[in-house]
Amino acid sequence: MEPEDLESRTPTAVRTVFGEHAESAAEFVAMLASHGVERGLIGPREVDRLWDRHVLNSAVLAELIPEGARVVDVGSGAGFPGIPLAIARPDLDIVLLEPMARRVEWLTEVVETLALSVSVERGRAEEKVVRRRIDVADVVTARAVAPLARLAQWCLPLVKPSGELLALKGQTAAEEIERDRSAVRKAGGGDPRIVRCGAAVLETPTTVIAIERVESGAPGVARKRGRKKH
Ligand SMILES: C[S@@+](CC[C@H](N)C(=O)[O-])C[C@H]1O[C@@H](n2cnc3c(N)ncnc32)[C@H](O)[C@@H]1O
Repeated sequence: MEPEDLESRTPTAVRTVFGEHAESAAEFVAMLASHGVERGLIGPREVDRLWDRHVLNSAVLAELIPEGARVVDVGSGAGFPGIPLAIARPDLDIVLLEPMARRVEWLTEVVETLALSVSVERGRAEEKVVRRRIDVADVVTARAVAPLARLAQWCLPLVKPSGELLALKGQTAAEEIERDRSAVRKAGGGDPRIVRCGAAVLETPTTVIAIERVESGAPGVARKRGRKKH
C-alpha cells in the first residue's frame, strides 16, 4: 500500500486519530505492507486490515494515556501498539521492548525512517537487567504478548506506583480477569477494569484491561523468603 492510499482507503478515522501525523501513519502502513510482509513481520492476510485491526486499534489507546507520560511497550513485535501511539502522540516518551533481534532491527528502521523520538531496547520484560536498564514508566502497554497472569508478573514491576498496565485484549478480557484476578493482585496490581477505546472511530472498539500498580508485588512471599536466609 502506498502512502497516497490514505485518502481512498482510510477516511476520517485516520485524520481524527492521527491529525497532522496522518501521513506518517500511512508511511508506516506502507512499510508494513511491503517490507513487513517480505520480512515475515506480519502475515500477507493482514495487509487489507492493517488500518483497522492494527494501526487505529493501537493508536486509540492514546485516550487512556496522560500528557507527557513515559510509556514502555512490552513485546512490540512489528510495532504494536507502540509505533502508532508514538506517531499519534509525540508528547509521549516511549520505549519499545522486544527480545527478538530481527524485530528489534525492524523497529529501529521504522523509528529512523519516520523520525520518531522513541527508544528501542532488546530484552525480556522479566529480566532483572532489562528492568534496571529501562526503569519504571507511568504506563506499560502490551498487545498479544501473554495471558493476563504472566503479563502482570512481567509488566507490573515496570510500572510506577499509581501508574497503569494497559493490556490490549479481545473477547476473552472478562474471562481472563476472572481467571487471573488473584495472580494480578499478587503481582502488585489493583482490580483490573475493562475499558473500550476508539468507540467514535472504530467499528470494533479496542478492548483494554487497565490495571493500576498499587504495591510492589507479593510482599508476603518476599518477606518469607527473606526470613529463611537468616
Ligand atoms: C504475538 S507477538 C505480538 C506483537 C505485537 N505486540 C502485536 O500486537 O502485533 C508477541 C511479541 O512479544 C514478544 N515477547 C514475548 N515474550 C516477551 C517478554 N517476556 N518480554 C518482552 N517481549 C516478549 C515476542 O518476541 C513478540 O514479538
